[in-house]
Amino acid sequence: MDAKITNSILYLDNVSVSFDGFRALNALSFVVEPGELRAIIGPNGAGKTTMMDIITGKTRPDQGEVYFDGAVDLTRKDEAEIAQLGIGRKFQKPTVFESHTVWDNLELALNRKRGVFSTLFYRLTAEDKARIEEILATVRLTARKDDYAANLSHGQKQWLEIGMLLAQEPKLLLVDEPVAGMTDAETSETALLLKDIAKTRSVVVVEHDMGFIRDLGVKVTCLAEGSVLAEGSIDFVSNDPKVIENYLGR
Ligand SMILES: Nc1ncnc2c1ncn2[C@@H]1O[C@H](COP(=O)(O)OP(=O)(O)OP(=O)(O)O)[C@@H](O)[C@H]1O
Ligand SMILES: [Mg+2]
Repeated sequence: MDAKITNSILYLDNVSVSFDGFRALNALSFVVEPGELRAIIGPNGAGKTTMMDIITGKTRPDQGEVYFDGAVDLTRKDEAEIAQLGIGRKFQKPTVFESHTVWDNLELALNRKRGVFSTLFYRLTAEDKARIEEILATVRLTARKDDYAANLSHGQKQWLEIGMLLAQEPKLLLVDEPVAGMTDAETSETALLLKDIAKTRSVVVVEHDMGFIRDLGVKVTCLAEGSVLAEGSIDFVSNDPKVIENYLGR
């Protein structure tokens, strides 16, 4: 197999998909390295969410190659298999269990991974507890662990859901517009939080908030009309005339 594939956590080559004749992805190619945190930007309708749909098996590409973890052909897997392989996805709207505590939400997520159907008779091991404590610290919710999820701020609910995904130990975490609706303080904290998470796994984050993207300080890929318009540092990408014309200057 091509070294470009074997050395990557995520490899897309020449991926296209059309909906009723409209090309949402148009020969999209990009590669994410193991342990990388990658930011994706681009105008509405550029295909950012569709790209995540392709990676997670929600949408099948019409053409192109999609490989995960150096060898796994994702175009041959269904959504459940892809989740099982270690790809976690955070959708825009948080879906935490509001009537459960923060701790219980994380405990449920941990048991879901284990496939325990009923948590009623299952006792957490010391190791499980340590893992939950660790996740609480990562998602900045240690002080809120006994509070009902319903009482968290919008931003904290987003963090809790990221924590629930971490309980599944994904190798790759996909996060779509995490800071929409967050306060400025929560937005800056989210950049730090994702950088912490990327120390132990790969993360791909889609965002429109350019301040947040700048805070991340990582390689940026700008999509437009279903393909890569520019890629590189935030300064390189934001000075690209095509990016200014198609996105930033709008
Ligand atoms: N399942 C689908 N059926 C039909 N059209 C779709 C489907 N999914 C996406 N599209 C279309 O594909 C295009 C790309 O949409 P996509 O949601 O990927 O854009 P995006 O870059 O995530 O935009 P935004 O920044 O607004 O979230 C849009 O024109 C959208 O309407
Ligand atoms: Mg989108």
